[in-house]
Parts: sequence; structure tokens; C-alpha cells
Amino acid sequence: MIKFILTTLFLLDGALAVIYQLNETEYNKMPPMFRLDPYAPCVHEPGGVYCAVEFTLVADEDNPLLTMIQEYSARREMHFNHSRLHRGICVTNTCKDYLSQNTSADLRLVLEGCLNDTLWKEYKLKSKISSEVLCNDLDNKMDIDYGDIAVAVICLSILLLHVIGNLYDFCYVPNKDRKGNKLLLCFSIKRNWKKLVAPPACGPDTRLKRLKGFNGLRSLSIIIVIMEHSLLPFVVSSENSHNFEIKYYNIICHLFIDGTLVVQTFFLMSGCLLAYNLDLLAEKKNISWTMIPKGIILRWLRLTPTYALVLAVTTTWLRFAGSGPLWQSTVGVEVKDCRRDGWLNLIYLNNYIDESQCMPQTWYIAADMQLYVVGLIIFSLVTSGVARRVILTVLFVVSLIIPACHTYFQNLDAGLVISPELVRDYFVKDPTFNHTYKRGHTNLASYIMGLGLGMLIYHLQENDFSFERFKKYKYLYWATVPAVLIILPSGSFFYFYETEAPIILKAIFSGIAKPVFSSIICIIVLGMAFKFEDVYRGILEWNGWASPARVSYCTYILHVLFVRTLTGSRTTLMHVSIANVLLVCLGTVMMTYLVAYPFYLLVEAPSIALSKIILPVAKVKKDIENDPTKWERNHA
Ligand SMILES: *[C@@H]1O[C@H](CO)[C@@H](O)[C@H](O)[C@H]1NC(C)=O
Ligand SMILES: *[C@@H]1O[C@H](CO)[C@@H](O)[C@H](O)[C@H]1NC(C)=O
Ligand SMILES: *[C@@H]1O[C@H](CO)[C@@H](O)[C@H](O)[C@H]1NC(C)=O
Ligand SMILES: *[C@@H]1O[C@H](CO)[C@@H](O)[C@H](O)[C@H]1NC(C)=O
Repeated sequence: MIKFILTTLFLLDGALAVIYQLNETEYNKMPPMFRLDPYAPCVHEPGGVYCAVEFTLVADEDNPLLTMIQEYSARREMHFNHSRLHRGICVTNTCKDYLSQNTSADLRLVLEGCLNDTLWKEYKLKSKISSEVLCNDLDNKMDIDYGDIAVAVICLSILLLHVIGNLYDFCYVPNKDRKGNKLLLCFSIKRNWKKLVAPPACGPDTRLKRLKGFNGLRSLSIIIVIMEHSLLPFVVSSENSHNFEIKYYNIICHLFIDGTLVVQTFFLMSGCLLAYNLDLLAEKKNISWTMIPKGIILRWLRLTPTYALVLAVTTTWLRFAGSGPLWQSTVGVEVKDCRRDGWLNLIYLNNYIDESQCMPQTWYIAADMQLYVVGLIIFSLVTSGVARRVILTVLFVVSLIIPACHTYFQNLDAGLVISPELVRDYFVKDPTFNHTYKRGHTNLASYIMGLGLGMLIYHLQENDFSFERFKKYKYLYWATVPAVLIILPSGSFFYFYETEAPIILKAIFSGIAKPVFSSIICIIVLGMAFKFEDVYRGILEWNGWASPARVSYCTYILHVLFVRTLTGSRTTLMHVSIANVLLVCLGTVMMTYLVAYPFYLLVEAPSIALSKIILPVAKVKKDIENDPTKWERNHA
């Protein structure tokens, strides 16, 4: 028995050995993480076959190199898994000896044999192919199916409507008095452009104007999100992976890497606008349960057409949009998953299934929709201020406990650890991402805080509250932005140090990190709403943010598509350096906006205008005028 315990302890100990750092010489003893044979020459050769594989390193007997690799990889928060390698191989060239021996053989065996030999020669290691073998050869024809044709027809009809609508606007409705055909005018680019670049107007009610800083907050947060996502190619195809791993030891870089809390800003704004607008609406109208279906339908109509079109293109034409050694693993997978699970996206439940890579960024849109329904139900059914406050308080306490329980009982990480391997798998396999990050109910806290904030702002405005006597605390207010910068990477403190934190600490952290971050944003918003000071307010309320904020939904929906297609169409590895990273980040942001503007004009603006016209007019029209979602561009 004692012997058994001792061996177990020893084994455990052996399994836990971790190498934290390697110098360059030792690092280079390991086989490189990624390697790509030249792509174009291979596939343009007649009969050329190019395959991408992932394989695990194995050894037939004890091998010190493999042990080192495993121990180095065990530091999963900062290091790649160096026993799981990726190769793009020109089979008809690099492995032609293995092909000619056995023409009937399975490609998988050919590749494995070929890899076994090369790895054995260089490293005395062998391989075990662990993924599907994804091959490109130009013989793969474009097989267009009915879905493709349907989507093409839809896209062409949208374009056709634009042609008609614009001609109509141009030739037949030149003067302002004539109203013209409303349906056709929805497609007038000139009119939509005017709306898009208009200064942030908020209807007759000037109170709403005090929230115009949301434009800045939203645009800045979206830009941060896009920049973070654009780091993808550096992870799935880095030429110098050591350099990438070293960046993880630099706390400054974690501001970039661990920006996941930024999303809480969106939840907060979303809740705030819902509560605030419903309070405004209650001045004119009785709020009753009928608001619930109406609100949900309006919101669904506003969000879905744009989203559905991008989804439809993703499931159909995207697969023909490029090729390359990484194409199948970055884009092909998404197309396949969208064909299987895409319908869940349209009913906003996709954040409750795991392992789907269909537009993964839209977990936020789904979570926000779910929380919107919760908020709407609470505010429609409970109309007295006191009862609302009680319910919100209770829910807030519950919302602190939920993520903590998930973390404690499912043994998760404190916050999302954006480790290299996690990104390589597009997050889908990570339990922390699946159970506490992307669900609706685990993001409840910020939304509840938002609802409370909306009520508070409304209430204070009613009473002409003034922050005059708090002016002396201006410096504290200025401390909010540095505080945000400290809290953003705070999740990484848990894995920066080499010992594992106790699970109870992680649970507490996962419960309070989001609300703490959100409360700082709350303070910023409050200060802005009541003109507490002019520096932050001046930046956030800049009129120039108005149009980027209007296209923010489009940018959010589209940006991952660009990141993935840009990554997938690469045929060489990426060199990791600060300059290169900056170039890619800023380039992706620019490109997303450059496409989001036309996309907004062609798709989102007409769909918003149309949904206002098409809805059963008499009954709902009045609600639309006062629609809580009208000013609220709170989706992304
Ligand atoms: C790297 O580390 C190994 C073993 O720790 C040592 O022998 C070698 O000299 C080091 N190389 C450099 C360049 O520091
Ligand atoms: C690395 O990948 C291999 C193969 O997928 C796996 O067996 C191993 O557990 C991974 N190592 C770590 C530290 O995750
Ligand atoms: C060729 O492949 C088949 C099965 O795929 C195998 O049984 C046979 O042994 C192989 N021949 C050689 C020469 O490797
Ligand atoms: C490659 O080596 C591994 C480990 O020795 C072995 O299991 C596998 O069958 C080999 N593959 C081929 C195709 O020979």
C-alpha cells in the first residue's frame, strides 16, 4: 500500500514537472511549431497535392528531448504545446518516395510514414497524426449547390433594389415636398448616408443627449476587441514562436492579450439604455407585459437581417473565397460548423452550445439578447421603483454567486486565460470559455449594474441632481482610466506566478472581476452624464464617434470574418515583432471599418428602415417612435 502511495506521489510529481524558461539554444532543439512547404508551386504542378496536418510527437522509448518538450509545454498559460505540431506538406514533392511505394495507400499513412522518417532523422522522434488531413488540390472543383444559388440571388436582389431605389431617389423625388415611395426610399444610399454621418441626435428629448458619450465608449471598445482578435495569425502561424511566448512574460503585453473584460462595457451600456429608455417611455405610456413580445420582436428584427446575411454568406460562398495551407483549418471549419449549427445563431442561443466555430464572436450578441429579455421582463412586470430595486439587488447577489460556483465546482480558471493553445483551438475546447465566459447567465452582473445605472441616471435627472459639490474629487475620477488599465489584465496575475492559486480564490475572483470592472465604467458614465469634468467627457462625447458607433454592429459581425480569411489565405508564416503586430492590428481595424461602412449603407440601414415600415403599422408605429431600441445601438 505504502509503495503504491509512494509511486502515485512520485508519478504525480513527475507529471507536474514544469520548465518555465528555455534559452535559445535549448529551445531550438525542439522541432519548430509550424512549418509550411511552398504552396503555389505545389498546387500548380499537375496532380499536386498539398496537405495540412496536425500531429503529436511520440517516442518509442524514453526520450529526453520529448520529456523536455512535454515539461516545457506543461506551462500551458504561456507556452504552446510543443508536442502538437502543425505542418503544411506538399505530398507530391516532399513525400513522393512514400507515395510511389504505395499508390493505393491512405494519405494519412503516407504522411505519417513520411513524418516519421524526417522526425527520426533529425530528432529521434516519431509522429502520430491527430487531426483530419486537410488537403487542397486544384482538382477540387467548385461544386455550387442550391444554398449558394439562393444566397447569390438574395445578394443580387439587394443590389438590384439599391439600383432601383437610388435611381428613383435621384430622378423622381428631387424636391423635398414630395414624399415619394417609402419602400423604395429605404434603399437610397444618399438618405442613409445622411443619417449615418448626422451628428448624434437623440430626438426631442434632450435628456438622452447626456448619454451621447456612449458613442465614444462603444467605438473605443470595439476597436480594442478587433485589435485583440486580429492577433490570430500570430498564434496559428508564427514563424518565431519563442518570441511570441516571451511576450507573455511582459506584463504590458497582457493589456493587449487579456482584454476580455472590455466586453463588459457593452453589457453595461446595453442594460443602462434599456432601463433608461423604458423609464422615458413610462412617462407617456403604461408599461405592461405586452411590451415583452413587442420589444423582443423589434429587437430581433433590428439585429437579424444583417447578421443573417453575413451568416448566409459564411455558410455558402465563403468556402470558395480563398485557399492556402491554413485555409481549411481557419475558414473551412467555420463553414462546416455554420452549416450544422448556424440556425442556433438566428435564435440567439448559440452561446449555449460548445464546440461550434460558427461566427464565434457572436456569443456576445446571443448573451446580450438573452439578458435583454431578462431585463425587459423585469421592467415590464415590475413597475414600482422600490420593487425593481429589490429585485435587481437580489439578482445582483445571485449573479455574483453564479460564476463563482461554476468556477469552484467545475474547477475552472479565474478568468479566461488567453493562452496560445486556447487561441489555436479557437477557444472552443476551453471549459472556462464555455462555462463562465460566453453564457448569458454568467454575464448577468454587468447587465444588472447597467439596469441599475439607467434607473439611477433617470432618477437623478428628474431631481436635477448636480455633482457640483463633489468637484473636489475630480482626481479620483481621473484615476478611473488607470484603474481600468490595471484591472483589464488582472486575470493574468493568477498565472503570472508559478504556483497554482487555490480554487476558492479563483472562484471569488471570477465572481467579482466583471462587476468591479463594470463599476469603474459606471463611474465614468455617471461623471459623463452629469458633466462632472471635461477631459474624459470631451473625448467620449466627440461628435466624430457618432458614425463609427452606428456601424459598430456591422464591424462586430464582420471583423472575425476578415481576421479568419486573412489568416486562411496566408501561405507563409508570420514573423512576430512589435512592428508587425501593430501593422496587422491597425490594418485589420481599418479594413473592417472600410467594409463596414458600405455594408451598413447597403444592408443594415435599409433593413432598419424597412422594418419600421413593414411592421403592422397602426398598432406598433407609436411604439416604434418611442421604441426603447431606437436610439439604442447597443448590440456590439
Ligand atoms: C542554455 O542552457 C544550457 C543548459 O542549461 C547551457 O548549457 C547553455 O550554455 C545555455 N546557452 C546559452 C547560450 O546560454
Ligand atoms: C499537448 O498535446 C498533446 C496531444 O494533443 C496532449 O496529449 C498533451 O496532453 C498536451 N499537453 C498539454 C500540457 O496540454
Ligand atoms: C500499401 O498499402 C496497403 C494498405 O494501404 C498495405 O497493406 C501495403 O502493405 C502497402 N505496401 C507497401 C509496399 O507499403
Ligand atoms: C510512425 O511512428 C509511430 C510511433 O512509432 C507508429 O505508431 C506509427 O505506426 C508510425 N506510422 C507509420 C505510417 O509508419
